[in-house]
Amino acid sequence: MSQAETQSKLYLPSDAVVASAHVSGMDAYHALCKEAETDYEGFWARQARELLSWKTPFTTVLDESNAPFFKWFEDGTLNASYNCLDRNIERGLGDKTAIIFEADGGEVTKVTYSELLAKTCQYANALKSLGVTKGDRVVIYISMSIDGVAAMQACARIGATHSVVFGGFSAQSLRDRIEDTGAVAVITADHQVRGGKPLALKGIVDEALGLGGCDAVKNVLVVKRTGSPINMVEGRDLWLADLAASQPTTCEPEWVGAEHPLFLLYTSGSTGKPKGVQHSTGGYLLHAALTTQWTFDLKADDVFWCTADIGWVTGHTYITYGPLALGGTEIVFEGVPTYPDAGRFWKMIQDHKVSIFYTAPTAIRSLIKAAEANDAVHPKSYDLSSLRLLGSVGEPINPAAWEWYYKNVGGSRCPIVDTFWQTETGGHMITPLPGATPMVPGSCTLPFPGIQAAIVDETGKDVPNGQGGILVVKRPWPSMIRTIWGDNERFVKSYYPADFQGKYYLAGDGAIRDAETGYFTITGRIDDVLNVSGHRMGTMEIESALVSCTELVAEAAVVGRPDETTGEAVCAFVVLKRPAPTGDEAKAIAKQLRDHVGKEIGPIAKPKDIRFGDNLPKTRSGKIMRRLLRSIAKGETITQDTSTLENPAILDQLGQAY
Ligand code: WT7
Repeated sequence: MSQAETQSKLYLPSDAVVASAHVSGMDAYHALCKEAETDYEGFWARQARELLSWKTPFTTVLDESNAPFFKWFEDGTLNASYNCLDRNIERGLGDKTAIIFEADGGEVTKVTYSELLAKTCQYANALKSLGVTKGDRVVIYISMSIDGVAAMQACARIGATHSVVFGGFSAQSLRDRIEDTGAVAVITADHQVRGGKPLALKGIVDEALGLGGCDAVKNVLVVKRTGSPINMVEGRDLWLADLAASQPTTCEPEWVGAEHPLFLLYTSGSTGKPKGVQHSTGGYLLHAALTTQWTFDLKADDVFWCTADIGWVTGHTYITYGPLALGGTEIVFEGVPTYPDAGRFWKMIQDHKVSIFYTAPTAIRSLIKAAEANDAVHPKSYDLSSLRLLGSVGEPINPAAWEWYYKNVGGSRCPIVDTFWQTETGGHMITPLPGATPMVPGSCTLPFPGIQAAIVDETGKDVPNGQGGILVVKRPWPSMIRTIWGDNERFVKSYYPADFQGKYYLAGDGAIRDAETGYFTITGRIDDVLNVSGHRMGTMEIESALVSCTELVAEAAVVGRPDETTGEAVCAFVVLKRPAPTGDEAKAIAKQLRDHVGKEIGPIAKPKDIRFGDNLPKTRSGKIMRRLLRSIAKGETITQDTSTLENPAILDQLGQAY
């Protein structure tokens, strides 16, 4: 669809939605943008005072003296867990349900704010009893659970910096993260249950620690999920419930400076190993709360459901911190969208009367397929009348999926907020506000008030609307990444490159603004980062995983190709240490390589297609021709100039995917 065609399809929020929204109408949106433009620091300071409780009020707002290591509200002190729990209880919300947890098998457990605080305090005291203190790092390797949220809140309470590792990562990936953070403790569960199957968590922690390099880890705290036997190492491993049971249910919060690192979260970059994105306490929490208020328009009687895992930033900001900071009621779901059938999401929305639903395009696309094949799992077979707002995140949503979501899930009455942001941005950056912004399917529309998003060329010059370019953010914002843990230089190089005189934050995405409306559409990553089912992966990481299979692989190159369901799919081009295989042999080796990548990184990184060649297409100077690989991966007829190719015959071999 051309830009002009896309823009002709404007969807307006209804008058009722506009009337009741926190940001009501475009005039209100523009007024907020104007306020931020006129008095940038004043705008953010006002929000920070209104939305957060400070132990010591801040007197400085933005400190740019050591750019790009920006500081926000630096002399203010606060505690994130105090803001998410105690503060709500002090406002009379102690008996309000904070979390409705639904397990994989359907069992429901609810906790009130008072109960969640008590649990958090017991976990915090348990950590303290083991000597964990402010500034220590704690790795959390756990599936979706009340315990997972409480563990994160407990770390925040004592000023320990948490680093949650998604339960789908392998022992090797987990080890790398434990080592890089220098964690003193790991919090995990015996197992996780997904789609009716128990999967090891503690066993993988044991394996990770056994790989070496994690000497700082003194204790492993284990949550009992299935109770099936696991190995417990004497003196190191403890059942969290046993340790916590004897602890007091109160714990004085550790008041930390606003810049104190609340968490590290690893994400893939274009080169080398994953980066530990460091987030602050004050600025991060402010944006988590503010975006939950304005983008999700969260109100007292809402039931909010973000389907992301707490192992990703979406789960941090829109499960553990944002909705709780506002005293909301939220769903935490352990399972998968297709178990026991593909109607699970719709059934849960019906059962729990969910009013705000936030999920990823990849999930929507796979549920469309299932719904079209079977009426029983179609949204129309459920009562979804409780919904009032829908959200999308993680990758561009194609207009067809948007329209289906709008009509079939939202009953053509719920605005959809297509939220563009990143692990590094901490919260929404470009998004519609539901009671203000006219929506265009496939466009994340306009910057959140205060966010100075722009599109520039390679030299940092603004490009006119209608012309594509590089997405940047011109001014620092409170919830931005502070640094890459332990690697300030890589932080500067990755996000504040010299190309823009170190002035602009480089998102790593390409984007275009509509000539008339100025609406942003994200056109995809401009670096070697892939987005598979909303999960971010570096092509180099997967290449390293492949070549680490030293008995088989001589060389590997990885590119992405479009995929109908997962957005992008991983395609690997592999040169073996023996002639390129074909037929059944190729299939068997492809499986072996997929399993190897699964072991090195995790199942999410397994290549969908593997193509074997006796060589990779290279220029005479020896550079891999990645553009050509991308064409081959897409199955395009090769029209590119291949005259510089050293060995044109290999193109035939690479034509077959296994
Ligand atoms: C990358 C960030 C943001 C939380 C989940 C992913 C892509 C994200 C959108 C959107 C188009 C999007 C970008 C971005 N992305 N949201 N609404 N429209 N693209 O966080 O793993 O850090 O990935 O996801 O490419 O750079 P992440």
